[in-house]
Amino acid sequence: MQNNILEVKDLSVGFNIEINNKDQFFYALNGISLEFEKGKMHALAGESGCGKSVFINTILKLLPKNAKITSGEILFENNNLLDIKEEDFRNIRGKKISLIPQDPFMSLNPLYTIENQLLEILNKNDDKEIIKTALEKVKIKNINTVLKSYPHELSGGMKQRVIIAMSIVSDSDLILADEPTTALDVSVSNSILELLSELINSGKTIILITHDLSIVSNYCDRANIMYLGNIVENSTSDKLFKTPLHPYTNALLKALPDKKGVKLQNIKGQISPITEIIQGCKFHPRCEKATEICKTIIPKKINMDETCVMCHLYDKN
Ligand SMILES: Nc1ncnc2c1ncn2[C@@H]1O[C@H](COP(=O)(O)OP(=O)(O)O)[C@@H](O)[C@H]1O
Ligand SMILES: [Mg+2]
Repeated sequence: MQNNILEVKDLSVGFNIEINNKDQFFYALNGISLEFEKGKMHALAGESGCGKSVFINTILKLLPKNAKITSGEILFENNNLLDIKEEDFRNIRGKKISLIPQDPFMSLNPLYTIENQLLEILNKNDDKEIIKTALEKVKIKNINTVLKSYPHELSGGMKQRVIIAMSIVSDSDLILADEPTTALDVSVSNSILELLSELINSGKTIILITHDLSIVSNYCDRANIMYLGNIVENSTSDKLFKTPLHPYTNALLKALPDKKGVKLQNIKGQISPITEIIQGCKFHPRCEKATEICKTIIPKKINMDETCVMCHLYDKN
């Protein structure tokens, strides 16, 4: 695990969902295996509903009561996070692994000033200057005013800067960012992504969740494409954009807006809810390249150089 900060092995997670007065179990993640190299920006991309947040919330032990982890290991600093008890996990969540959520308001306490919330993260012996330095790093100019403010007094972009400052103060090695810029307008969004890139330069590792492949191309070293609970392709960002292999990756790329901002081609059909069981490859109902085998047999994960793809097209055996 030397170069990897996090290794996920065969992780399967599902939910008990009541249908016709009966609890039934449906998978949201199907045997996910992924390695996250230290000091890199890793993307986890796919349409809404494909399981990105469930993945992040499993790592942080933030799953709701109806969720069940049926298999897998999540190795972080040589410990399996799934074996760590909730009381001990409090030393990890927000300290060693921090979360930047889509809605920054969710992780700020509306009743406390920004200063008090940042102070809470500091250890007793830490110097308060650490807070000011962190706020400078996230390019907040009117630091004293922001420190005295309550979350509702700040704009969305400013709140997101404060959350990033929190992860700097906590000195987390791993940052999970769940669509951190989706709620922000484009220019603010770009400045937040720039800030995250600067954290990579100072040695942090980030898993950036997004449904926007242009963000992956501009900011991420590695790209993991997810579809209905499977990683269907994982590669370096360069390779993924130069030679995309999986039909889903190709469809996502074709759906990107062109330079004039016009969306080129919508992906046909819609992502199904997890309650709809799809045999074979889960993408086959929407896939332009699907053949008979895709309807019945789950494709294997095929490794090629730095790429792994889960598609019958590349299975030569
Ligand atoms: N608490 C829950 N109970 C039942 N199903 C859930 C629950 N949370 C998420 N899901 C389902 O799991 C799937 C993946 O959800 P999610 O990880 O939130 O998607 P994404 O973040 O990629 O948009 C979706 O079909 C969603 O409806
Ligand atoms: Mg999500």
